[in-house]
Amino acid sequence: MVREINGHYLCFAGLIEEREKSLGSMPPTVRIVGRVPGVKEFQRLQVSVGWGKEVVEAKSPTELAAVDAMTEKVLAAAIFGVVAMDTVSGDAVGCALLLGDGVSYYYVKDVMVHKNWQGRRIGTALMQGLTDWLGKNARKGALVGLFTRDGLEPFYKQFGFANGFAMLRYMDNK
Ligand SMILES: CC(C)(COP(=O)(O)OP(=O)(O)OC[C@H]1O[C@@H](n2cnc3c(N)ncnc32)[C@H](O)[C@@H]1OP(=O)(O)O)[C@@H](O)C(=O)NCCC(=O)NCCS
Repeated sequence: MVREINGHYLCFAGLIEEREKSLGSMPPTVRIVGRVPGVKEFQRLQVSVGWGKEVVEAKSPTELAAVDAMTEKVLAAAIFGVVAMDTVSGDAVGCALLLGDGVSYYYVKDVMVHKNWQGRRIGTALMQGLTDWLGKNARKGALVGLFTRDGLEPFYKQFGFANGFAMLRYMDNK
């Protein structure tokens, strides 16, 4: 808070997130595999990070089949993906998708680490997997974009992402 020359107080506020620093390295039991996750693997991760509203709300077999079909469509759009596998349980504990035309632009989507596994450099390893693939396959000058939330800049800055101007719209169709 600052007091300006007329005696008014100006208060600046920003997001403060309470999180502990991530552990130094990824757990030795976790492996990053270059593949798109399966429908159930993806949905389980969505639910664990709070993005799986449709998955949680689907109850009847028809609703479940519709959600599965939607997830299949999302996954089919990926040109590359990475999955973090816990070799002890055999579970997928994280994933990330890469979309794009394979020539001029790429889009990083659905970077998720299961809530019980966050803060252990698994997200970083997933992004490293996508970055390595882009390093081998993307043309010089191709644009790589992503949308993220306030506060996650440090995570993506590790991979050379910088803030840019963007416009976006959420469709409100029924
Ligand atoms: C964001 C997410 C993928 C990060 O994965 P993670 O494995 O927990 O992160 P890492 O351990 O690899 O973090 C490495 C660095 O990234 C940054 N970082 C990670 N999570 C962060 C957070 N919640 N807020 C701010 N910075 C964060 C930190 O700089 C961290 O290093 P530090 O702790 O030494 O400062 C994971 O928390 C997640 O799945 N969140 C929910 C879904 C989500 O928001 N995904 C991103 C969509 S754009």
